[in-house]
Amino acid sequence: MIQLKNRHEIDGIRKSGAVLAECLLMLDDFIKPGVSTWDVDHMAHDFITRHHGIPSCLGYCGYPNATCTSVNDTVIHGIPSKKEILKEGDIISVDICVTLDGFVSDSTRTYEVGKVSDEVHRLNVVTRECLDLGIAAAEKKNARMEDISKAVFNHAFKENGYGVVRDYTGHGVGFDLHEEPEVPNFVSPLMPNPRLRPGLVIAIEPMVNMGTWKIKDMRDGWTVKTADGKPACHWEHTIAITESGVEILTLP
Ligand code: MF3
Ligand code: CO
Repeated sequence: MIQLKNRHEIDGIRKSGAVLAECLLMLDDFIKPGVSTWDVDHMAHDFITRHHGIPSCLGYCGYPNATCTSVNDTVIHGIPSKKEILKEGDIISVDICVTLDGFVSDSTRTYEVGKVSDEVHRLNVVTRECLDLGIAAAEKKNARMEDISKAVFNHAFKENGYGVVRDYTGHGVGFDLHEEPEVPNFVSPLMPNPRLRPGLVIAIEPMVNMGTWKIKDMRDGWTVKTADGKPACHWEHTIAITESGVEILTLP
């Protein structure tokens, strides 16, 4: 069941999203060669709790940390580790969920560590554009879920030839971390295609691979890597459909 949110509830999710956005901005200064993914997680955890939020990934289905830190060929759900040290040319996606006063927001960005190759930078730029295009598609009059999916998929695959992850999707968010509906980054007649009505709050999160769309699950039960070992990027915002259009809720 899709749980639409009222104005007051959207205000709450926006407040949660602001803490999350500030946290991602803080990490932009912090992430550099020599820093471990555990350090990144620690900084984020500390930032969120100092701002009275709860890092909602921690303990979710037994997940062990405050953030998911996914480096290079890790697409999502990378587990922070003291042994994993970032080096020049790496990319790292940091996926964070914050609960504030009971309202949940979800956002991700892929950071470039020092100078990355032109090829990898391009993948990152295109993935971010996919997110922007998905959000813009939601703005269309009488838009449906498929308009978002199509905008993301066309830009990533049709225009740039990148692999689009199919095994994981965006989702409803706000009262819980994962709510209905699913927000796929590909078009399929098998997926429900709800109308985007005012009060709908969703996380749009393109996961785009340089090579194949196929992924493999690691034995730790969390880490998801690209099947071919090529890099992947991930950008995510929580947005609300309102009477007057679309609002991004994970902004500073
Ligand atoms: N933030 C992730 C998402 O976008 C959820 C991570 S859940 C965790 O769906 F348990 F892995 F942290
Ligand atoms: Co999400």
